[in-house]
Amino acid sequence: MDERIVTGQLQEEESSVELSLRPTTLNQYIGQDKVKENLSIFIQAAKMRNEPLDHVLLYGPPGLGKTTLAAIIANEMGVEFRSTSGPAIDRAGDLAAILTSLEAGDVLFIDEVHRLPRSVEEVLYSAMEDFFIDIVIGQGPSARSVRIDLPPFTLVGATTRAGLLSAPLRDRFGVLSRLEYYETKDLCAIVERTADIFDTNISKEAAGEVARRSRGTPRIANRLLRRIRDISQVKGEKEISFETTEVALQMLQVDDAGLDHIDHKLIKGIIEGFQGGPVGLDTIAATIGEEAQTIEDVYEPYLLQIGFIQRTPRGRVVTPKAYQHFGMKVNDEK
Ligand SMILES: Nc1ncnc2c1ncn2[C@@H]1O[C@H](COP(=O)(O)OP(=O)(O)OP(=O)(O)O)[C@@H](O)[C@H]1O
Ligand SMILES: [Mg+2]
Repeated sequence: MDERIVTGQLQEEESSVELSLRPTTLNQYIGQDKVKENLSIFIQAAKMRNEPLDHVLLYGPPGLGKTTLAAIIANEMGVEFRSTSGPAIDRAGDLAAILTSLEAGDVLFIDEVHRLPRSVEEVLYSAMEDFFIDIVIGQGPSARSVRIDLPPFTLVGATTRAGLLSAPLRDRFGVLSRLEYYETKDLCAIVERTADIFDTNISKEAAGEVARRSRGTPRIANRLLRRIRDISQVKGEKEISFETTEVALQMLQVDDAGLDHIDHKLIKGIIEGFQGGPVGLDTIAATIGEEAQTIEDVYEPYLLQIGFIQRTPRGRVVTPKAYQHFGMKVNDEK
């Protein structure tokens, strides 16, 4: 697959930069006001009662700050942050080893929690609910089940696909927080904060432009900023200017709405091949040569969010707003 500059997914070699950009307190965490407000109350209450925080499920598209928020929760609670992921835990024993090594109150973060193997997930039920696990020791007729008590802990789960979580697991989270695409003003603040950490000056207009074209996603905003900074620096600018930002984004093939060639291929595929729809997801996938799942999970969510595509019972439809973006009239192709 193409390297995509506007993907919300983490790219190789990005993780160390990201680490340095992570806010560490709720106050530094920009935007997502509703989520922050709720968490802040729950955290305060738990601390007053001297209890661990309820289990928290964070869900939403990639790059919106789920991992960041999980670490902040641990920091605000004043406990250790232990991090793993669904696909990394193969066997129930692996999970047991992690759980028994926790201290009271610790945060255990499980990324991609929808990808836990079933057998592991089942062990998690009693751990989450009553802080114990039943482990089977031995095999055959001599096998017996041993109950191990656990310290009370907080599970923070993250997923880009809440719909894939099994009902029993989902029901065991006391707090469900959905992260939304960021408003431009919040992304603008994130861009300015990142520039600050990079010791780089950026004009207000330039920061606004990066924010506007970052698909509501901090990870993309930070990535675009890094590239634009390079170009600005080579030009010898003391401050990243609006003009350079525009030129840079054009070079990076990010259009005025933050869309790239893949978005164009998808939308134009529906317009040119199917008169703008409705057309079924599988048909689109076959036409443009991408997996239906990838379209649904990665390409489409932002296009739905900005109202360029709509889901209808009969399939996907390109909206007049999208036609306008491409300088086409709704009936152009007919
Ligand atoms: N609210 C925020 N304020 C400032 N920076 C943020 C915020 N949210 C995210 N970021 C930045 O965006 C980057 C990506 O965030 P993070 O890794 O937490 O996303 P994620 O939702 O866990 O992504 P994934 O779905 O790939 O796991 C981080 O480097 C972080 O610095
Ligand atoms: Mg993450």
